[in-house]
Amino acid sequence: MTARSTFYLTTPIYYVNAAPHLGHAYTTIIADAMARYRRLAGDDVWFLTGTDEHGDKIAQAAARAGVSPQAYADEISSAFRAAWGGLGITHNDFIRTTEPRHQKVVQAILQALRDAGEIYLDKYGGNYCFGCERFYTDKEIVDGKCPDHRTPLTYIEEENYFFKMSKYQGWLIEHIERHPDFIRPERYRNEILGFLRDPLQDLSISRPRTRLEWGIPLPFDDTYVTYVWFDALINYVSALGGPGDARFEKFWPHVQHLIGKDILKPHAVYWPCMLKAAGLPVYTHLNVHGYWNIGGGKMSKSVGNVVEALALKDRYGNDAFRYFVMREMAFGLDAAFSEEAFVGRLNADLANDLGNLVARATTLLAGFGTGGDAGAPDAGDQEVARAAAEARRLVDAAMEEFAFQRALAEIWAFIGAVNRYVDATQPWALAKAPARRGRLARVLLTLADALQWLGIMLGPFLPDAAAKIRVAAGDARAPRVELRVAEVVAAEPVPKSKKLLKLTVSLGDEQRTMVAGIAEHYAPADLVGKKVVVVVNLEPAKLMGVESNGMVLAGSADGKLAILTLDRDLPPGAKVR
Ligand code: MSP
Repeated sequence: MTARSTFYLTTPIYYVNAAPHLGHAYTTIIADAMARYRRLAGDDVWFLTGTDEHGDKIAQAAARAGVSPQAYADEISSAFRAAWGGLGITHNDFIRTTEPRHQKVVQAILQALRDAGEIYLDKYGGNYCFGCERFYTDKEIVDGKCPDHRTPLTYIEEENYFFKMSKYQGWLIEHIERHPDFIRPERYRNEILGFLRDPLQDLSISRPRTRLEWGIPLPFDDTYVTYVWFDALINYVSALGGPGDARFEKFWPHVQHLIGKDILKPHAVYWPCMLKAAGLPVYTHLNVHGYWNIGGGKMSKSVGNVVEALALKDRYGNDAFRYFVMREMAFGLDAAFSEEAFVGRLNADLANDLGNLVARATTLLAGFGTGGDAGAPDAGDQEVARAAAEARRLVDAAMEEFAFQRALAEIWAFIGAVNRYVDATQPWALAKAPARRGRLARVLLTLADALQWLGIMLGPFLPDAAAKIRVAAGDARAPRVELRVAEVVAAEPVPKSKKLLKLTVSLGDEQRTMVAGIAEHYAPADLVGKKVVVVVNLEPAKLMGVESNGMVLAGSADGKLAILTLDRDLPPGAKVR
C-alpha cells in the first residue's frame, strides 16, 4: 500500500422496519474489514453506518406494532447499533435520518436546488407500490402487479415536486465511461449503462403530507415531505456536517460507497445527478455486492432465514461468522448461505489450517523461546519470508477492489506454506539434537515472524483471533521477566545514599539482596515482614557498592511511591504472572 491517504467509507443506512439480519450484517462486516484494513495501512479513515427512518414502510410497520413511528424507529435503530456492537464493528459514526443534524442538511440542499431552478412542481399520475414506495412505469409492471412484491398496484394522481434529473443523463453516461471503476464490479457498471440507454426521467422527490406524514418537510412547501431516496442518500453528506464543515471538506473528496445490488439504481443514477446538481463532487467508487440466498434447494439442516443466519454468530463466534461470509461470497456475485457450508469452512480453514498452525507455533515458542544463537537462514526460511511479502502484495491488491474472498485466500495460502515449513523442518526433532540448537533457534525465529505477520494481517478479518496471535507472537519475543513473591526479612539504609535501601528478601528456598530506591518513602522497619513482588531474573548490578540480585516492583505518581504487596497471603517464592 502506498502513502497515507484519506478514506471515507459508507454502508447503506438500513430501514428500521425489520430487525438486523445476515444481509445487513454482511455489508457492515465487509465495510468494517475494509475500514480496519485501511487503518492498518496508516490511512485516515472515517467509516459511517446508520439507519434510514422515514417513509411509508416505517410508518406502516409502526402502525402494525401500535406505536409511534419515532418510538418504533428508536427501538429498531438501537437494535442495529447493538448488533454492530456484538459484531465488533468499528464505525466512526452512526447516523439516523430522524436526527436534526441530518434534517438540516437535507433541507439546505433542497432549498439550494429549488433556488437554482432544479426542482419544479408538476402533476403526476401513475401506478404506485406502497411496499416499494415508488411509481412503476407500464414497462416495469408484471401482470399488472409490482415486479418486486407481486402485489396489485394503486393508481395515484397527485401534484409533486420533481428534480430535473433528465438533464444530467448525458453527463452521467460520460462520467461513467471516463471512469471505468466508478461503479464496480463491472457487471453493475454495464447494468447502469444499459439502463441509461433509455431516456432518463425526472425524479419525484416529494409526497403530499396528506398521504405521508413521516418525513422531512420540504423547506419551500411544508404541505409535502421529502421522498425517501432524496432524504436517505443525503445521509452520506449530512453525517460529515455538510458542505463547509471541516470534516466534510476533509473526507468527502475521498468517499466510497458500499451497497448491495438491490439499491444500485438510486446510488448509481439518482445520487450522482443530485450531487452534480448541488455542485458537490461525486463519489470516487460505488462498490456493489451480490445477494445472499438462503434455503434454495436441498439444505436440509441449514438455517431457514436471514435472521436465523445471523444468529449463527452467537453459536460459532464472531470471527467464524466474519470469516465465513467474507470467504464464501465473491464480491459482486450472489452466494448461498447454509449452516453446512459454514461448519465446513470452520473446520477446514479455521480449526485445521489456522488453528493447527497457531497451536503448533505457540507450543514450540513457549517451549523453547526465540533466544540463543540462530544459525543463518536457509532456503526454507527465506522462502517463508518471500511468501509473506508476496502475500502482503496480493492482499493489498485484492483489498483495493473489495475482493475480500481473494484477500483471505492469499492469507490462507501463506498459512499453508508455513504449515508445510513446520512439517519440513521438524522443530521437535531438532530440539532433541543438541548439535542442531542453532538451526532450531532459526526455525523458531522464522515461525515467530510468521505468527507476527498473521497477527497483523488477520486483524481486519478475524479481530479476536488476530489479537490472540499477536499476544502469542509478542510473548515469544519479549525477554521473559520472572516475577516472584518475596518476604522482606531485613532492611537497612545503604551508607551515603539518600535514596537506597538494602533489602534482604526470602524467596522460600533462597535469600537474596536487592537494592531499592525507596528510602525517601519507606522506613526500613516498616518493610520487614512485608510480602512484595520482585523480578528475579536480572543480571546482578552494583548500586553504591552493594550488589543487587533482583528488583522490587513499585509504582509512582506525583512524587508518591508505593511498593506492590499482596492482597491475600502467599508463601515467599510463589510465581507471579
Ligand atoms: N434504506 C435503504 C438504503 C438507503 S441508503 C442511502 C435500504 N435499506 S435496507 O434495510 O433494505 O438495506 C438494504 C441493504 O441491506 C442492501 O443494500 C444490502 O447492503 C443489505 N442486504 C439486505 N438483504 C441482503 C441479502 N439477502 N444479501 C446481501 N445483502 C443484503 O435499502
